[in-house]
Amino acid sequence: MAIKLGDIAPDFTAQTTQGEINFHEWLGDGWGLLFSHPADYTPVCTTELGRTAQLQEEFTKRKVKAIAVSVDDLESHKGWINDINETQNTEVNFPIIADADKKVVALYDMIHPNASSTMTVRSVFVIAPDKTVKLTLTYPAATGRNFMEILRVIDSLQLTANYSVATPADWKQGEDCIVSPSIATEDIPAKFPKGHEVIKPYLRTTPQPDIEA
Ligand code: BEZ
Repeated sequence: MAIKLGDIAPDFTAQTTQGEINFHEWLGDGWGLLFSHPADYTPVCTTELGRTAQLQEEFTKRKVKAIAVSVDDLESHKGWINDINETQNTEVNFPIIADADKKVVALYDMIHPNASSTMTVRSVFVIAPDKTVKLTLTYPAATGRNFMEILRVIDSLQLTANYSVATPADWKQGEDCIVSPSIATEDIPAKFPKGHEVIKPYLRTTPQPDIEA
């Protein structure tokens, strides 16, 4: 069954390139990024895993642990990691789940039979510290994901989890935010002392509340 936003991310125990993990225990009290790869030793996946490794510091800064899944075995993953490190000039330092029996990809509905009966689509799940799913993305096999977009969404998810704001189209860290419709305009100054602008009664903006002016 498809996983919907707000659902508890299904838990599992699996072999990974960093040993056996229980997913929920491994996540601990931080955020998680679970993403699937159609197969080992494929070109687009090689660049995606390399990009994730290159951005490790950015994920760590946001308290996000990345974990990939691919439906090949551990030996295959280990050999492939050498290639990724070599060709992408990085070091893969997050686990890759060995899911040869497709247990995890079935749990997360990552095979879309009308796209391919054997390979997974490129799924992304962002999971909050309470283990609820906050974001799902599905890309086709031939289109590599944009990892700056994934970081951007995580910034929005973490901001909107803590403040009564939403983020507008193309928002990036540091830009003005939208005051949540649930906040009455007369209550904005107390909640958002940095200032606000009323563009329409339903469209009020404020500087990003969690950063220095
Ligand atoms: C790739 O990861 O490069 C890939 C996988 C399946 C189809 C097309 C590309």
